[in-house]
Amino acid sequence: MTVLVTARLEGTPITSDAGPLLAGLLTDPRVARTLGGVPSPDALAGMVARQAAHWVAHGFGYWLWRDRATGAVVARGGLHHVVVGGRAEVEVGWAVDADRWGEGLASELGAAAVAFAFGRLDLHEIVSFTLPANMTSRRVMEKLGFAREGAQVEHAGMDHVLYRLLAPSTTTGPQGELA
Ligand SMILES: CC(C)(COP(=O)(O)OP(=O)(O)OC[C@H]1O[C@@H](n2cnc3c(N)ncnc32)[C@H](O)[C@@H]1OP(=O)(O)O)[C@@H](O)C(=O)NCCC(=O)NCCS
Repeated sequence: MTVLVTARLEGTPITSDAGPLLAGLLTDPRVARTLGGVPSPDALAGMVARQAAHWVAHGFGYWLWRDRATGAVVARGGLHHVVVGGRAEVEVGWAVDADRWGEGLASELGAAAVAFAFGRLDLHEIVSFTLPANMTSRRVMEKLGFAREGAQVEHAGMDHVLYRLLAPSTTTGPQGELA
C-alpha cells in the first residue's frame, strides 16, 4: 500500500475504517453536487468499502489526502478501474474540501496520481471524466495534459465528457495503434 507525498499533501490508501475521516468531505453538498449528490450513511459506507477493496484487489486506488502542515483531511482522489464509454479504463478522480478550492490541491494530487499510474503501475493511458458543466474539474484535467476525446459518454445514467492522457513514452502509430 503506497503512501504518496507531494509539496503540500500526504496521500494514504483508503482503508475500510476511513468512513468517519471522509464523511465531512464527501457529504458536503458543495462537493457532492457534482458527484451524484450527498450520499446517505449507507451509501458512504458502501463507497468507502469499495474503495478499500479496490486497493486490496489491485494494489492501487483512491488515496485520502491530508494537509502535511496541519494533518487535516483535505481531499480524496486517485486511480480506479472503471468501465466508461463501453471500455475498461483506469480513471483518475479527485474531490477537495470546498474551503480549499482554488489552491491547486486537485492539480497537485492529480499530478502525483498520474505519475504513479505511468511510473509504478506502468500504464499506457488513463482517463478522467466529469459532468460537462464541471469546468473546474475539466480545467484540472487540461492542466495535467489530458485531451478531450470524442462525444459525450454515459456514466451512472448521466452524460459525461471524457478526457484521455497517454503515458509520455507512448506514441500513436499511423493507424492509431499504441506503439
Ligand atoms: C474539481 C475540484 C476537485 C477542483 O479542486 P481544486 O483544488 O479547486 O482545483 P485546482 O485548484 O487544482 O484547479 C482548479 C482550476 O480550475 C479553474 N476554475 C475554477 N472554476 C472554473 C470555472 N468555472 N471555469 C473554468 N475554470 C475554472 C481554476 O482557476 C484552476 O485553474 P488555474 O490553476 O489555471 O487557475 C473541486 O472543485 C471539487 O472537489 N469539486 C467537487 C467534486 C468534483 O466535482 N470532483 C470531480 C468529479 S470528476
